[in-house]
Formats: sequence, C-alpha cells, structure tokens
Amino acid sequence: MPVPREEFMSPIWKDGIFKDKVLFCTGGAGTICSMQVRAFVALGGNACIIGRNVEKTESGAKDIATVRPGSKVIGLGNVDVRDGEALKAAAERCAKELGGIDFAIAGAAGNFLAPMSQLSTNAFKSVMDIDALGSYNTAKACLPYLVESAKKHKNTGKSYPTGTGGRMIFISASFHYVGRALQAHVMAAKAAVDQISNAVAIEYGPYGITSNVITPGPIAKTEGMERLSRSDPETVERSKRSIPVGRWGEVKEIADATVFLFSEGASYINGMIMVVDGGQWRTSGAADSSGPWRYPDFLLSGDEVTGVKSARKSKL
Ligand code: COA
Repeated sequence: MPVPREEFMSPIWKDGIFKDKVLFCTGGAGTICSMQVRAFVALGGNACIIGRNVEKTESGAKDIATVRPGSKVIGLGNVDVRDGEALKAAAERCAKELGGIDFAIAGAAGNFLAPMSQLSTNAFKSVMDIDALGSYNTAKACLPYLVESAKKHKNTGKSYPTGTGGRMIFISASFHYVGRALQAHVMAAKAAVDQISNAVAIEYGPYGITSNVITPGPIAKTEGMERLSRSDPETVERSKRSIPVGRWGEVKEIADATVFLFSEGASYINGMIMVVDGGQWRTSGAADSSGPWRYPDFLLSGDEVTGVKSARKSKL
C-alpha cells in the first residue's frame, strides 16, 4: 500500500539527489528496509530488492515503485542471502536491468528469542548464516559494481557534479555492546556484521567506497518488534520508559539515517556505526532487570519464551 511521504522520510532532503542511481537491498521488502528503499526511490533513484519470499518481494517492489512516477524497482524473490552464487546472479541482473549498482544495503536478517539451553547448533548457525555470511555475500556480490560507481562519482569532499556513489550500509544490532540474554546467536552474528563493514571500509576505502553500519533500536510497527517484544501495554510502557528519548523509533528515522549516509553530507564518514535507538543501548544492562524475561530468574526457570511471534516449543 502506498505510504504517505511523511511516514518514511523527513521533509528536509532535496529531491533528485539520487537521480538515476541504483540501490541493491537485501531484505528490501521488510518493514525497515522497504522504507529505506522507498526514501531512496522518492529522491530520484531506482532499486532492486532481494528476498526469499517471491510474492512478498515482487509485490513489495511494485508498492515501492508507486512512490515516484517513472521509477524502476525490481523485486527478485527466491534469493537466499546464504547462497553467495544466487546473490551474485541477482547483482548481475540488477546491474544489467538498471545500469549498475551505486549503493547497497545488507539488510536481510533473522532473529528469535531463545536461551542457549534451547538453541540448537543449527539454530545458532541459521542466524550466523543469514546475518553474518549473508552480509558478507552481499558485499562480495555488490562491491565490483560499487567500485565502478565510485570511479564515476568521485569522493573528493567537494560537491561533485554527478553526486555520490559507491556506498554500502549494513544493518546491525546493539545487543553485543553490553550483552543480552536470549540473543547469543544474534550477538555473535551482528558483531561479525560490524566487522565486515569495517573490513569493507578499510579495504575498499582506497577505491572510493564508504561502508557504514546502521543499528536500529526498537522501531515501532516493525517485524523485529513483533518477533522480539511482547505487546501487552505494561511491557510496552516499561520498554519505552527505559529509552532516554522516551519512545520507540519510527521507520522514517532509519530511512533518514540512510539518506544521510548515502548523501554528499556523509562523504567523509567511513567505518562508522550509526546507532539510531534514542540512546537505548547506553541504559541497557546485561539483561532485562524486569519484565517477562527477568534476569537471571527466567533462565534458571528453564521456561520457554512465550507471547512473541518468534516463540516456539523447545525441542532441546
Ligand atoms: N527458538 C529456538 N530455535 C528456533 C526458533 C526459536 N524461536 N526458531 C527457529 N529455531 C531453530 C529451528 O528449530 C532450527 O533448528 P533445528 O534444525 O535444530 O530444529 C533452526 O532454528 C533453523 O530453523 P528453520 O526454520 O529451519 O530456518 P530458516 O532458515 O527457515 O529460518 C530463522 C531462519 C529461524 C531465523 C527464521 O526465524 C526466519 O526465517 N527469520 C526471518 C525473519 C526475521 O527473523 N527477521 C528478523 C527481524 S528482527
């Protein structure tokens, strides 16, 4: 469904800053990434979004394309980021149909809540594979095109007539900064994602590329919040109160950070992590001190996680 502009982007950005540029985004039909892509397309760009689910990805692309008449948005479904060859083929198709890749977002992710005692080797591996390996595969598939783009749209620090290009963003999380129970798999995977971005920044900076991480906090009305948080009013209220800014974030706040990092305004920002969470991670301790998964009582109880979309019966 078409989304009103004020819901996915602040009114401060200049129309046309991404004119005729191309964005490749994994997980692009998701609740956060689709808004990042939408903002990019609204500001003049074209895009290719990648996902596992064919219907969701194709209809997501069609929906994003409504944001600007004449835009081109391709949805490539049945592509799993764990499959490096499939991603390479998707990047090749994107470049062929849209003329190149100037920007990339490694956004596909997997998450659920589970204590290590209920986390199988395969469960841990699944999230490592989707988040860490998937981000690496995305970088490998897109970097040759990003290098070409960076040659054409030079990062000189001065306003360049053809704008920016050759930029990459990885989507991460902050759980590993302070430690978080029920997230062993994601802490490991996202720590790896942060370092993959840093590696791109160091090794491809000399080619004119910038690579940065956006770390969203609790963002309202997203699949992540549905999967990982309980919706009873008391828990929601407590969660909001624990954030210095006093509320959950809006998807547009992640899209705004994306537009900034892809814009000329961020030309000298490379190898950075931009945490967009209202200051939440600075206040969170090693685990929830209250609420349904109180530390360490919940772990010692041996109970299963219930009341969230990602919950399932433990087989271990
Ligand atoms: N608790 C514990 N283990 C779980 C689990 C949960 N809530 N959900 C899945 N697993 C385990 C499975 O049991 C399986 O392990 P097993 O083979 O030992 O039984 C393993 O994880 C892989 O599950 P499967 O469903 O086969 O993997 P998948 O590749 O199809 O799915 C997931 C990957 C598990 C990450 C799934 O949640 C997913 O597809 N997520 C995508 C959307 C998403 O999470 N977005 C993130 C928004 S923050």
